[in-house]
Amino acid sequence: MKVFSVKELANNYIAGLKNNGTTIGLIPTMGALHQGHLSLIQQAKEENDLVVVSIFVNPTQFNNSDDLDKYPRTLEEDLAKLESVHCDLVFTPEANDMYSENEKAEIFNFDGLDQVMEGAFRDNHFNGVGTIVKKLFETLLPDNAYFGEKDFQQLQIIRKLTTITKQPVKIIGCPIHRDPDGLAMSSRNMRLTKEHREAAPFIHQTLLAAKEMAKNTTPKQLENWVVDKFNNHPNLVLEYFSIAKEEDLKSISTFNNHSKYRGFIAVFAGDIRLIDNIALY
Ligand code: PAJ
Repeated sequence: MKVFSVKELANNYIAGLKNNGTTIGLIPTMGALHQGHLSLIQQAKEENDLVVVSIFVNPTQFNNSDDLDKYPRTLEEDLAKLESVHCDLVFTPEANDMYSENEKAEIFNFDGLDQVMEGAFRDNHFNGVGTIVKKLFETLLPDNAYFGEKDFQQLQIIRKLTTITKQPVKIIGCPIHRDPDGLAMSSRNMRLTKEHREAAPFIHQTLLAAKEMAKNTTPKQLENWVVDKFNNHPNLVLEYFSIAKEEDLKSISTFNNHSKYRGFIAVFAGDIRLIDNIALY
């Protein structure tokens, strides 16, 4: 497994391979890798000649410097996990190689995809994500790039990003990887207290029940039902539950069979914020 930390060296190496027809699959990450990340790598291994993982805690997507400082950095363990799944190349740049001094996030027009849900609660977050993903694509030249449906809104925004930037990258969405009790895997799960970890599977259980109920309710009734479930829960606090169309993430007043809809949720377990989503139709 090759490890590059200098942008230009990684770019030269990959450009050389691409000239020989090698196909590149990229999985962008912020490290603190878990089985959810590794499932993306497994899929990329099946579909590309060379699998590249980037590890970079991207400052422009954090709107709170405390959050940025607290983000887990576990490079040695991450590299061992990547070796074990036969990743071919890891890119671990320093911030000053990706950004010039005082550089801010580029402002994109994501057609409102970034204004709802996570975007409404995290100002400028998706411009930061778009900025770094565009730079990673420029540097690492992927044919295919893999993103988890765990962050479904991010996945749709990256799809929009490639139509804006016209970068020739195929964006591939991968299913949410869960612990056996249903909790969506996340780097934040390791920070949950024992009590909150035990409570957290309630999130996925509620989403599954909502999916069942979606056949016989309106979106509004379903949203109210989920709000009620969390109001009655002793130690999980709902931030939002929104039902939206997959394509444009706009909220809806009725379900119809011609479109795909998802329920999106953000919940506080103590001070840890967890997100999840489920396909309803
Ligand atoms: P990070 O949170 O490290 O996630 C990297 C990728 O792993 C994302 O595409 C995310 O959706 C996916 N992922 C995380 N948990 C998953 C799970 N349980 N099942 C399936 N996929 C999962 O998302 C980011 O980093 C950053 O915003 C990034 C795109 C790297 C830009 O900085």
